Amino acid sequence: MVSMKNIGVFFGGQSAEHDISIVTAIASVIKPLEAMSAYRVIPVYIAKNGAWYSDQKLKDIKLYQTGEIDSFLKKSRPISVRFDSGLVLKQTKGLLRKAPETRLDIAFPAMHGTHGEDGELMGVFELAGIPYVGCELLASAIAMDKVVCKKIIEAYDIPTPKMISFSKQEYQENATRYEKDIADKLQLPLFVKPARLGSSIGITKVSSHKDLQGAIEVALHFDTKVLIEESVNNLIEVTVPIMGNHDLTPALVEQPIVSAEGSFDFETKYLKRNKKTGGAKSAQKGAQGYSKLPAEIPKKLYDSSIETACAAYKAIGCSGIARVDLLIDEKQQKVYFNELNPLPGSLYRHNWHAAGVSATELVTRLIDLAQQRHREKTAVNTSFKTNFLKQF
Ligand SMILES: Nc1ncnc2c1ncn2[C@@H]1O[C@H](COP(=O)(O)OP(=O)(O)O)[C@@H](O)[C@H]1O
Ligand SMILES: [Mg+2]
Repeated sequence: MVSMKNIGVFFGGQSAEHDISIVTAIASVIKPLEAMSAYRVIPVYIAKNGAWYSDQKLKDIKLYQTGEIDSFLKKSRPISVRFDSGLVLKQTKGLLRKAPETRLDIAFPAMHGTHGEDGELMGVFELAGIPYVGCELLASAIAMDKVVCKKIIEAYDIPTPKMISFSKQEYQENATRYEKDIADKLQLPLFVKPARLGSSIGITKVSSHKDLQGAIEVALHFDTKVLIEESVNNLIEVTVPIMGNHDLTPALVEQPIVSAEGSFDFETKYLKRNKKTGGAKSAQKGAQGYSKLPAEIPKKLYDSSIETACAAYKAIGCSGIARVDLLIDEKQQKVYFNELNPLPGSLYRHNWHAAGVSATELVTRLIDLAQQRHREKTAVNTSFKTNFLKQF
């Protein structure tokens, strides 16, 4: 009998999206994995203080919903991690009992935001030399920084709103120069954003130059780097989930329905999903509230969205899975890159489902892609003999 592979599902984490990650892991990863019974699922929950826990009980959503997780963590001990030709999780039980160990064959990160989706966790899997699902360290890290990400997108001639960026230090030393630069080179209205935050925190739309300074100060309150970019007018927002390493499979172009208030904050994205959203025929409840699936846009814009999204995925060097957010100027019929999420909430399972990929097929294909990438990487020789030490 072939022994079942251990798949570590990582979730929680030190991020504003801690709770969203729990739902992604349990509903979109663990549930379909267990339905297939092809893998032994090892949940690895990273608590808000950064400690790692692993216990089969952590697969139960109720633990988190009821708040019982707090007493559970108080009673439990964090695991320790050993790098030993792979990644070994070790329970830290009593001194006398031999602590059980689990060797992971593959890792499935289901983390969002900081200390997880941003490449840090991918670095751990790289060091351990085990295959892992989703984007690699570099693409994950690039995607987390809007400035770096957009600079690469620009280098590939993919349209993205024109921007100017600077650090807090640079602004403090040269505020008037930057403000003049912005006035000379960018057209109002503008969006002022912290470079490395999500969920619309610290973002301001500015329609007059007199409001610029205040907006920059707000953004600099949340990050030491900001960007100011031109607004895409006559806006339609769409998002395109994509899967693949070399050959890409896009899911459907999806059009999130922005709330009537027209705001774009955390609440609109994650908490208002029960509110009425206008009754569009094809409205779907997704990870970020309601959306039109597929987007109700002309075929030319639909195709151009897929093309732009795939080009961005390649440019950033994504593999496995990602979701590309686009801004469309409906009047000018032009598609712009906005940002890229290397680990979309819920894996955008509802969209894949509508595109004909079931939840079990989705995780299976992602695991296959992870293993394929791992094989390709290990086939490259990384040991070089030198005489350096002998010469010393
Ligand atoms: N250049 C822009 N033109 C028009 N709308 C924009 C622009 N940039 C951002 N927005 C609006 O602000 C929202 C949040 O900005 P985004 O860059 O996606 O930040 P976050 O990382 O917080 O999601 C977008 O979903 C969109 O509605
Ligand atoms: Mg966004």
